[in-house]
Amino acid sequence: MDYNRRQFISFMGKASIASLVLPQFLMSCGNTATPTKDFNKISKERLQTLKDFVLKGIPASDKDDLVLANGLDYHTIIKWGDTISDTDTFGFNNDYTCFIPFNDDDPKDGLLWVNHEYINPFFVSDFNYQQEKTKAQVDKEMYNVGGSIVRIKEKNGVWQVVQNDPHNRRITAQTDIALNWDAPIKGKTSVKGTLANCSGGITPWKTFITCEENYDGFLGETEYDKNNVESHRNSGYGWEKFYNYPPEHYGWVVEINPKDGKAQKHIAIGRFAHECCTLYELKDKRVVAYTGDDHNDEHLYKFISSKPGSLKEGTLYVADTINGKWLALDWENQPVLKAKFKNQTEVLIRAREAAKLIGATPLNRPEDIEIDPITGHIFITLTNNKPKGDLHGSILKIEETNDNFDALTFKASTYIAGGEENGFSCPDNLAFDMAGNLWITTDISGSSMNRPDKPYLTFKNNSLFVIPRLGKDAGKVIRVVSAPKDAELTGPWFSPDGKTLFLSVQHPGEQTKDLSKPTSTWPFDADNIPKPAVVAITGDLIEKMNKLNLIEG
Ligand code: FEO
Ligand code: CA
Ligand code: CA
Repeated sequence: MDYNRRQFISFMGKASIASLVLPQFLMSCGNTATPTKDFNKISKERLQTLKDFVLKGIPASDKDDLVLANGLDYHTIIKWGDTISDTDTFGFNNDYTCFIPFNDDDPKDGLLWVNHEYINPFFVSDFNYQQEKTKAQVDKEMYNVGGSIVRIKEKNGVWQVVQNDPHNRRITAQTDIALNWDAPIKGKTSVKGTLANCSGGITPWKTFITCEENYDGFLGETEYDKNNVESHRNSGYGWEKFYNYPPEHYGWVVEINPKDGKAQKHIAIGRFAHECCTLYELKDKRVVAYTGDDHNDEHLYKFISSKPGSLKEGTLYVADTINGKWLALDWENQPVLKAKFKNQTEVLIRAREAAKLIGATPLNRPEDIEIDPITGHIFITLTNNKPKGDLHGSILKIEETNDNFDALTFKASTYIAGGEENGFSCPDNLAFDMAGNLWITTDISGSSMNRPDKPYLTFKNNSLFVIPRLGKDAGKVIRVVSAPKDAELTGPWFSPDGKTLFLSVQHPGEQTKDLSKPTSTWPFDADNIPKPAVVAITGDLIEKMNKLNLIEG
């Protein structure tokens, strides 16, 4: 027999797990799934099919189009400015997507959450950095960040927004959001809005998680000098000129109820530039949440709840990846934190400083985090760290001791490095499909892409790659989708039947300096300007990849 269990899992890492390791909520939502439960019942024919599977990728491209490998198609579900109801429109720069069907028996009708990470004033508010920004311009910008909930349905292979569905709504930088914490933050228990919503997650109780990443760009940041005296660092967007919202109200993990849009910020998971938050439910229903701080030399964190289903009661840890230890950000039990901060609330608000005081390892911009459905190992993209000479990034693998997600020790290793040898650079979002293939999007910055004076020229436009788990190409990094000019592909999310890959196309044409000469016109609508949009990628290849497991049929 050519494929035995050991070979099957070897490229992702050793494992002693014979059956699925992920909880049902991660699998039923199409996020990840298990390939098989019994490796001994595989027919020779099936193994031959898997062994013979060849995936033909596409070469790097600098074309202004969404270029797809053979066997893939796409259609646009929704784009910036599209109406979702009589009162609301879809926001700008869509990122994380998460689809939750109303009913597990019908994977073709449900609610799609989409993050709107940031705005380009040039397109959104007609601000060109020359004059003073007006309140009306700021209000436009505030409306276009946050997130959208839209009901979508698939009919005859095409996903469409159900206009005016009562679930359709916008969450913006002005929506009232409760804080899930006993103490007020800067005097408030409810705050205004969410912003910088980059990636996210899903909870075991099927609500959306959206993460506030580069929040300091909107309302600034509070900084402290060596005598602990605070001052305000101004933001790039300058919203604080009109809205005196404290920076401490942003930089959190936010949970959204899909049904009514009610939101809450989870203070216990700490405040920093959260890329994402990936949750795992333990057998006793306590929750483990992994989250990274996407900034040069920042850290990887893990929250372990002490009560079932709680994202408030528990302990936040930060990773020492050199010694393989999770270090507790616990004011009560860490003298060094007690000496510097007033209480646990302050430790959580200033988590970056607290993490450094207890010995957290600086990492190269930890971004997305996914759990391998077969091995239970945790994969974290480290996008890059240019000042440290890491231009192409890598993917970090964490193996918790004894495969226990609430372990306080682990082993860290590099799973794969970016660079010319592996054909990709600057990994950002990750997704495992139903067969355990790993999908990777890249984020080479718009100002560095396709430039002869930068080290990213050969990679051309940002892309979506897949690393097949089985077949002739197992372990290879294969480009399957190339983004339009200046764009980044984000938010990959599989529909529960494995037949659709939802994907965001973010910031096409972001290098545009003159609207009459945009660098991109994707998605090629009548306005002839670039627009961020969410697409559905379908086709034989998606279906084949999702079935590329050891189960018959
Ligand atoms: Fe918003 Fe870390 O990407
Ligand atoms: Ca990124
Ligand atoms: Ca990202």
